[in-house]
Amino acid sequence: MGADRARLSPARSLPARGRHAAAPAPGPSRRGERPRARAATGVRAAARRAGPVIIESILTTLDGAGTPNFAPMGVEWGDQDIVIKPFLETTTFRNLRDTGAAVVNLTDDVMLFAQGAIATVQFPAVPATAVRGVVLEAVCSWREVEVRSLDATPPRARVVTAVVHRGFRREFLGFNRARHAVLEAAILATRTHLLPAEQIRDELARLQVIVDKTAGPREREAMALLSDYVRTVPAVRTAPARR
Ligand SMILES: Cc1cc2nc3c(=O)[nH]c(=O)nc-3n(C[C@H](O)[C@H](O)[C@H](O)COP(=O)(O)O)c2cc1C
Repeated sequence: MGADRARLSPARSLPARGRHAAAPAPGPSRRGERPRARAATGVRAAARRAGPVIIESILTTLDGAGTPNFAPMGVEWGDQDIVIKPFLETTTFRNLRDTGAAVVNLTDDVMLFAQGAIATVQFPAVPATAVRGVVLEAVCSWREVEVRSLDATPPRARVVTAVVHRGFRREFLGFNRARHAVLEAAILATRTHLLPAEQIRDELARLQVIVDKTAGPREREAMALLSDYVRTVPAVRTAPARR
């Protein structure tokens, strides 16, 4: 952390930076006050524009026969409510519609995101506590949710769910750049039919640098899996649009 940022107490507003920091002190006010006020206004405006926080999960659902489905899904996070936005062609959407329940699994194992992005997968799991569903064995913590409302307007449903149970299994360690890079690569892998091949190649190359610098074996393996997949999948697929 830079020295300037280390000196800030948590309650203080951010200092003016860049262009604003270099501006001359205007009028009778103390040197730098107005640019700082302008910067604070900008920060507040940016905060007002922000949408809900999206947390990347492995969402588990069951079909009518009780077969589990595992899919990476970014969900709109709330303490009491979680909004899931599956495309209508996904198994996740059908299961939510048909059974009204899911488990939002939070895990630091990005291999599950990589595998789930490129194939239909089954992972080790145990029964959930409060809903008909399953909890990943590789989970750090989880939320069991029940559907409260479902808007199936194409192309992407909006499913509002209520949290009915929370569970914790193990610590979620701090940020790791390689894990985030693999998440981005997994999302790219679901968009090979939408994006130009060159753009995907360039973005993967940029993400690979981060993986090379900061990954452990699991992240390296996950990135290699995604890179191989992207290299071999036809550039334009006929699959329907996904996230
Ligand atoms: C990190 C990540 C987040 C994703 N979020 C969504 C999402 O919010 N909605 C969605 O429909 N697909 C999302 N996808 C793509 C789905 O995981 C993918 O389409 C998957 O095949 C759907 O599986 P299912 O048909 O078994 O439900 C995401 C993929 C990744 C890698």
